[in-house]
Amino acid sequence: MINPITYNTCSIHFVNQDFTVLDAYIHKQNYSKVFVLVDNNTHIHCLPLLTERLSISVDVIRIESGEETKNITTSLQVWEALSNLGADKKSLLINLGGGVVTDLGGFVASTFRRGIDYINIPTTLLAMVDAAIGGKTGVDLGNLKNQIGLVRNPKMVLIDTFFLKTLSEDEKKSGMAEMLKHGLIDSKKHWLQLTKGNMLSNANSLPLIYDSIQIKKQIVTQDPSEDGIRKALNFGHTLGHAIETYALSKKEIKPLLHGEAVAIGIIMESYISSKLTSFSVKDCDEVKRVILSQFKQVIFPESSYKDIIELTAFDKKNTFGNVNFVLLEDIGKPKLDCRVDKSLIIEAFKFYNS
Ligand SMILES: NC(=O)c1ccc[n+]([C@@H]2O[C@H](COP(=O)([O-])OP(=O)(O)OC[C@H]3O[C@@H](n4cnc5c(N)ncnc54)[C@H](O)[C@@H]3O)[C@@H](O)[C@H]2O)c1
Ligand SMILES: [Zn+2]
Repeated sequence: MINPITYNTCSIHFVNQDFTVLDAYIHKQNYSKVFVLVDNNTHIHCLPLLTERLSISVDVIRIESGEETKNITTSLQVWEALSNLGADKKSLLINLGGGVVTDLGGFVASTFRRGIDYINIPTTLLAMVDAAIGGKTGVDLGNLKNQIGLVRNPKMVLIDTFFLKTLSEDEKKSGMAEMLKHGLIDSKKHWLQLTKGNMLSNANSLPLIYDSIQIKKQIVTQDPSEDGIRKALNFGHTLGHAIETYALSKKEIKPLLHGEAVAIGIIMESYISSKLTSFSVKDCDEVKRVILSQFKQVIFPESSYKDIIELTAFDKKNTFGNVNFVLLEDIGKPKLDCRVDKSLIIEAFKFYNS
């Protein structure tokens, strides 16, 4: 039995196909109605386990799966479903799914009737270690990621690695990219814990997930509204998001999962770090080696560099028209708000491609 992790008003529980803690919480809170938001896949693979274990009946709201669903049109459908099914201010929304469901569900719950309680039950590795933790909720605006949203914490997060049994290997790797990011921004100790020997073949093991959640929790507790250290969580993401958006909209390269794009961003931003800070070339090469041992290399045509660099202009960390990168001075030592010349980004593409 692992003790829950608490931060803010949220508690993160580690369960093993046993949802007693959730059942007890729902009874204690005396919610008027309980809704579960699922997507097509979690409806099939995850919902039965949850509903079998709960003593209360729930209303299920289902959305299509995939990032294309994470938009305001789907939010409207979920607001309408809540309204039509009789949700009121004292209702609860349980988000059962990956980051798309937890981001969108958190946003819908936080805005419906000016905010109802919500609980996240992440069912992907990425959502367990990252998306479901920390209270960032939101949806995309066209191709631009996470442009609309707010920070508001769930009441509870339930982690059950049993759900990972039906998740594809590619999706597991996508989550692994965020775990590697956590390792790099946290400490050499954590980075080595993840990367030594054959550890990454077991990235979905509970001890590694637990550590990754602890790192995210420590950062979001210190800086809930991303004025400072929380920005470190965006390491790999300035270029990662731009690459993800580019891959979704252009056919020169295949669409990439969030974590796949972030893995590329981590390599490129490590390279940029090695040129602009004290980050060592040796560590930079090691980051590239570790990531390419797990992720297939994507070759970017030179013609894509300009478009991808332009897309970084939409990054949410930007201020006053400047693109702000998070770099590393060392493993475990992030440096925030760094400016990077376009020519160095092009060099970073060449480093990644080589
Ligand atoms: N809020 C945050 O702090 C934060 C942090 C990181 C990422 N995100 C967001 O998270 C999203 C990505 O999350 P994701 O990678 O979980 O994607 P996702 O929610 O699209 O899930 C990936 C796929 O796996 C399926 N799936 C989910 N659980 C399953 C299971 N147990 N078995 C089989 N299939 C399952 C889904 O239906 C989907 O097809 C992005 O939108 C990203 O912006 C948010
Ligand atoms: Zn991410």
